[in-house]
Amino acid sequence: MDKVKRSDIAGVDEFHVRGAAVSRELANSIDINGLNVLDVGCGLGGPSRMLAEEYNCQTTGIDLSNEYIRTAAKLSQLVKLQDKTSFFQGDATQLPFEDHAFDVVWTQHVQMNIPDKGKFYSEISRVLKTGGCFLFYEILKKGDGEIGYPMPWASDDSHSFLFMAEEMDGFVTGSGLTRIQFKDQTQAGIDYFEALVNKLKEFRPPKMGLNVLMGETTKPKLMNLLTHLKEGELELISGVYRK
Ligand SMILES: C[S@@+](CC[C@H](N)C(=O)[O-])C[C@H]1O[C@@H](n2cnc3c(N)ncnc32)[C@H](O)[C@@H]1O
Repeated sequence: MDKVKRSDIAGVDEFHVRGAAVSRELANSIDINGLNVLDVGCGLGGPSRMLAEEYNCQTTGIDLSNEYIRTAAKLSQLVKLQDKTSFFQGDATQLPFEDHAFDVVWTQHVQMNIPDKGKFYSEISRVLKTGGCFLFYEILKKGDGEIGYPMPWASDDSHSFLFMAEEMDGFVTGSGLTRIQFKDQTQAGIDYFEALVNKLKEFRPPKMGLNVLMGETTKPKLMNLLTHLKEGELELISGVYRK
């Protein structure tokens, strides 16, 4: 157990399309080295550990799920990053942190489960220092097409609160942040899924993959997401705002 490295758990601790690759891209969109980062909806804490180890950040993760938070803390201990990462159970719409507490607030694939978008983005803005950056990577609705479920974040539409990029921009700028960069990540996500589907045709699902988190419905969830990305009802966008 003493020899477990971050790469040994990397297949399962980044719960978003394109895993660590897209997190590194997001980290490289600003000079994040050594900064104090809050990861909102941190899940198992993979991005927090990546920022701590590769960018020397001090990271804090918050997630609604107690189980994810307990596991995130244990995984950090396992790879000896417990001094640079801390994890708290809590609700993104009521962040238990002081105003202006963080240099960077980061969120990936979380808001789809949150109906109160206004509160979600105003809390992010509140805990961000003046001059600090908000980095996001999101699944967003595009056009009027019906969305089929299950999806990786919701088994039916009663737990899914998708909205459009323009609406997101309205909430974020309305909370006092300025838009710096938007990047369309949709094609990169489609390419990633198509490569994954081909790999799964040849091999069995990995022992340490996201199938561990998504269970028996992994395949229909991923296929629904891929179909909607390809048909243009959903898009993947990352970006940066500054306070
Ligand atoms: C798809 S996972 C993404 C996890 C992580 N951001 C990552 O990319 O690896 C979505 C996460 O959002 C968390 N979440 C959903 N609603 C939340 C809320 N209201 N407050 C905090 N976390 C929430 C879930 O528990 C889950 O861990």
